[in-house]
Parts: sequence; C-alpha cells; structure tokens
Amino acid sequence: MEKLPFTAESVLRALSYVDDPDLKKDIVSLNMVQDLHVSGNEVSFRLVLTTPACPLKEVLTRACENAIRQFIGDQVSVQIKVDAEVTGRKPTAVLPQVKNIVAIASGKGGVGKSTVAVNLALALAHEGARVGLLDADIYGPSVPTMLGIKGQRPPVVELEAGLRMKPIPVAGISALSIGLLIEDAQAVVWRGPMVSSALRQLVSDCDWGELDYLIVDLPPGTGDIHLTLVQTVPLSGAVIVTTPQEVALADARKAAAMFRIKPISVPILGVVENMSFFAPPELPGRRYYLFGKGGGKKLADEFQVPLLAEIPMVEQLRELEDEGNLPDGSLPEDLRRAFAELAGEVARQIAMQNALLRQTVESEVS
Ligand SMILES: Nc1ncnc2c1ncn2[C@@H]1O[C@H](COP(=O)(O)OP(=O)(O)O)[C@@H](O)[C@H]1O
Ligand SMILES: [Mg+2]
Repeated sequence: MEKLPFTAESVLRALSYVDDPDLKKDIVSLNMVQDLHVSGNEVSFRLVLTTPACPLKEVLTRACENAIRQFIGDQVSVQIKVDAEVTGRKPTAVLPQVKNIVAIASGKGGVGKSTVAVNLALALAHEGARVGLLDADIYGPSVPTMLGIKGQRPPVVELEAGLRMKPIPVAGISALSIGLLIEDAQAVVWRGPMVSSALRQLVSDCDWGELDYLIVDLPPGTGDIHLTLVQTVPLSGAVIVTTPQEVALADARKAAAMFRIKPISVPILGVVENMSFFAPPELPGRRYYLFGKGGGKKLADEFQVPLLAEIPMVEQLRELEDEGNLPDGSLPEDLRRAFAELAGEVARQIAMQNALLRQTVESEVS
C-alpha cells in the first residue's frame, strides 16, 4: 500500500479507520480524537473515551497506533494521552450537573443489591469518575454501615436556591443515605406520600455537585420509591441484581419488567448475578454452585440484556461490609477484579445507551 504523507490530515484519515466496537462508528466521527499535533516525526493527540472505566482502553490505543503505522509508516512516533469525558443524558432541571443516574434494583432483599451499589460506586471512582451514591432503601438502608459513616449527619449549606444538604465524602465518592436522616424504626410505618417526599428531598434538596454517575440503591421489589424516582429524574438505566436460585429469579423478573413498562421505559443495562459460587481459598480452582448455576444468565437472556458480572461469595466481603471497612480498599483480589469489570461493563452500557439516544434525537431533528 502506498503510504500517506505525514500530516495531521493523513493521521486523521488513518484514525478514521479505527472503529469504537461498542458505538460502531469511527473514532474521528465520534469526536474522540482531540488536540492533534504533528511535529518532527511525532504525532500526539488525546483519545477521549466516553468513560474512564472504559474496558477498551488498550484495544483502542493499539488500534490507533496500528492504523498510523499502516497508513503513514513505522518511523512515526505516536503519543496518545487517554482521557475521558463521560457522556450523559440531556441535562434536565433536576440535577443538571449529574450526567448519569443509575438505579440498582432487585426483586428480593438480601441478594446483594447494596453490596453491588456500593462496590460499583467505589470501582467507578477508582477509575477516575466522579461518583455519588444515594441509598434510597427506606426500609433497610445499609450504605452507612458498609461505608462506616453511620451516625454522621450530612452538612447543610446555604446556596442561592436555599438550604441544601451535602453528601458525605468517603473513599472518593459522595454518599447520602436515608438512614443518615431518620431513625431506623421510623421509616417502617411510612406510607406512600411520605416515602415519595423523602426521596425527592434526597435528590433535589441535596447539593450533589458535578457527577459522572449517581448510583441509586433502591429498596427491593417495586414500590413508591421506584415510581417516585422514575418520575423525578431521568434514569440512564437500571441494573438488576439477583442470586442464581429460582425464587430470587422469579422476583427479579418482576422488578426488571417494571422498568420496561411503557410510561416508565428505563433501559435495563444488564443483570448482575451475586453469590454465584463459593470458591474456598484453601481449594484453589474449586467452585461450589451453592444456589444453582446459570440463573443470572437465564434472566439476562430473557430480557435480552448482558450479564454484567458474576460475583463470588466471599466471607471477607461480608466482614468488611458489616464492620464498615469497605472504604479501606482491602477487597480480596478476585472480588476487586470482579467489581472493576462490573464498573467497566456498566460504564460501557451507559455510553452505548447515550449514543443511541443521541442518534434517535439527531434523526428526529433531521
Ligand atoms: N458476594 C458476597 N459474598 C459474601 N457476602 C455477601 C455477598 N454479597 C452480599 N453479601 C452479604 O449479604 C448480606 C446482604 O447483602 P446486601 O448487599 O445488604 O443485600 P441487599 O441490599 O440486596 O439487601 C450482607 O451482609 C452482605 O455483606
Ligand atoms: Mg440493601
């Protein structure tokens, strides 16, 4: 193949042959190549990904280098600075500074919804994203315990718009829980309207600041909180958490179906199967499928969404959560990897949903 001259235009042309495999479009059209400079035998540019948790970071940088070598030649030295600009839904009046709001839902309680919400939030922040965590599980808020912030009161600040609560900064995320505002026993007797107004306050009367992702830990099942949330803020999507056994799946199915109901229409980003298996540390390679096998995959297939992660049962995880030691970052390696992969998958699904949304909006306009 005849090589192109070494100019900025040629580099862009070469890069226009690199496709983002998720968004199915080339990275130049997607505006992912920025600040391109050519000097001497060096080309440098920023590769702006749609999320810092992008699982395709390495694949894409390598593809860029290859394309430049192939079209222009081996003598070019390529300097790529990987950056991220998280895409978001259209900004709305409520929480305009929050790019993506993601609900974590389940059918049953005790399946690990809060575990997934908290560890997903921490993993996204670890990748460099700005993350908030809202514990909206009015009947069993467990985020304060897991993050070791039980008993703390969110500070109140006076802004132009009036008095606002601030979330609590912990382990690189901003956290707020209904459990920090009310006594444990109080919420059990609350009825619909009280529940709804409590959630609205957590969302609108809190100064969340600028966030790439706000993760919302919902109560199990489908109820007033769910309806209020979808009516109050536009959700980027929902993640369904289940354990593998049949009883949990049956309930998870109902929870997932709710998000698909027409007036609600929240994209289901995927399914997380928690407590997928037990792998005793003293028996490397052995996996015991205590609650059955393949349940999460089955649910994901039914709804035609991806299975985002299979999280093993690990005693140390429960201990860290019960004792509020999650922020120390001392997760066992297999779990750390599982949650990092989950964060990458969730970020990727959100980026795809946002790209899809923009395409729909664009084609409606044109
Ligand atoms: N993968 C896991 N391995 C070990 N313990 C877990 C795991 N997932 C959750 N747990 C523990 O199970 C209990 C219930 O989890 P939690 O996240 O609070 O569920 P939910 O929010 O759905 O009610 C907690 O004590 C938690 O620490
Ligand atoms: Mg919970």
